[in-house]
Amino acid sequence: MALLDFGLDKLSTSLGLLVTFLAILLFRRRNQWRLPPGPAWIPLVGNIRELMSDPDLRIPLRRLQKKYGNIYTLYLGPIPTIVVCGYDAIREIFIKRGIEFSDRPAASLPVILFNGGKGITSVSGDIWKKQRKFILVTLRNFGFGRSKLEDKIQTEVKLFLSQIETLNQTPFKMMTPIQTGVGNVISHLVFGGHFIHNDSRFIQMMDGFESLLHYASNGSLVTFMPILRFFPGDFFGIKNIAKKMQVVKDFVNELIEEHVKKFDEGNIEDFIDAFISEMKKQNDGENNIFTKEYLAPIIMDLFIAGTETTSTTVTWASFYLATRPDIQSQIFEEIKAIVGIERLPSLQDMHSLVYTEAFIMEVLRMSNILIISVSHAPVTDVWIRGYHIPKGMQIFPDINSVLSDPAVWGDPQNFRPERFVSGEGSLLTPDEFIPFFTGRRNCLGESLARMELFLFISALVQRFEIMPPEGETLDIKDVDGIFGGTHAPKPFYIRAISRQAKEMN
Ligand code: HEM
Repeated sequence: MALLDFGLDKLSTSLGLLVTFLAILLFRRRNQWRLPPGPAWIPLVGNIRELMSDPDLRIPLRRLQKKYGNIYTLYLGPIPTIVVCGYDAIREIFIKRGIEFSDRPAASLPVILFNGGKGITSVSGDIWKKQRKFILVTLRNFGFGRSKLEDKIQTEVKLFLSQIETLNQTPFKMMTPIQTGVGNVISHLVFGGHFIHNDSRFIQMMDGFESLLHYASNGSLVTFMPILRFFPGDFFGIKNIAKKMQVVKDFVNELIEEHVKKFDEGNIEDFIDAFISEMKKQNDGENNIFTKEYLAPIIMDLFIAGTETTSTTVTWASFYLATRPDIQSQIFEEIKAIVGIERLPSLQDMHSLVYTEAFIMEVLRMSNILIISVSHAPVTDVWIRGYHIPKGMQIFPDINSVLSDPAVWGDPQNFRPERFVSGEGSLLTPDEFIPFFTGRRNCLGESLARMELFLFISALVQRFEIMPPEGETLDIKDVDGIFGGTHAPKPFYIRAISRQAKEMN
């Protein structure tokens, strides 16, 4: 660990100098660009004051959009950042001109510090294209988005239900059982197996990812002023996260080595096997991106992107179930009428359970867990609506400006699943429904997430009635408002009453 601390200190100092140098360079070059308008900014601090003016990031974002329009410039510390709001501008930039805006900025995520800029989420250009194609094809072969994967998800759904059953109505936080459930679905795909619920390595891995994600997006000063991560000592807890991530990396590397030892070309069982097989085929010399050094960061990215997001969404769903018994009973009645209560809902039922799906979509819209998505960057210097934006500049798609737009939804502040149901009773998916974003760099795991959300949530409502703890009430103002980039609820407790036991009493 001492070595790690020393390495990180050296890295911090060099990166700190580099960032300061870049900031000066940016300051000089900014006059050559023609950036969209934005609030006045203070050198090095930028517009942090505006962004931190309310603990709910959505408030300053909406205020800035109103004042400066749908494309404006903000300074995150010294870094100029373009914010794109509203569906029209998002469609124009990320769909119609998606190829031009498919890179990531060089320092978009603190994750880069820990994976050396590899993986899938933070890479750009040819590496991104090749890796994304390989990941999608491989995961599709393992049933991503098709019913082949359903059995594995259902195994986890059953374990999740039995874990809740054993709680026997004791109040619990949904995040714990659901994180294990969806984390294990990724484990099936990546490692070809799952962890038992109290496996310490699994717990450590999830803890590492959670800390990293919260550091990257907890609305702290560091999120908006990345330069602060080079602050001496461990004021912002970065070294602590680096230690946790080292444990995760060691564990992932251990699993890779196990796979390398037992590799059998005729028996490709999971993502690691498929990657090793590709490693053996590739012969690109120095440009080879199918090496063990690339594999571990991809695995970590798949876990980070695929676990926390889905678990947070199910946790939000449990909040809306507990606070809206009217909606919960409508979902249950639909499941009872179409699926019954003997077997679990399956993917074949997905299209018939329209209200259940509409509920899930409304949870995704309201919870909007990635309010400013993940930052993009232009692949070359570009012009947008008369503005000149240089290659590599950070661009945030403001998803929240679309999912909460009164011109699109009428009453965006109300939780109303019916908005996704047509007069004829079929499911409506407006173009503006973009919780997974859109265009070429949209969420790679959307189909898996939609399968998981449906199978876990419908089974939960079929088997249990979700309520606040006895004698307590839950209110949105008590749970809403922890976020920078990620919108997770503050921890809250719920109770699950077995419907079967209730009927027998
Ligand atoms: C409710 C669940 C989820 C939500 C709301 C969500 C949302 C998003 C969003 C908004 C992005 C950023 C797109 C952009 O760059 O603009 C993203 C990227 C990504 N997501 Fe998801 N996601 C979810 C679940 C998953 C799952 C289950 C996986 C599983 C593998 C996954 C893997 C990824 C990856 C790898 C990326 C980066 C793609 C790239 O850079 O090319 N996500 N997701």
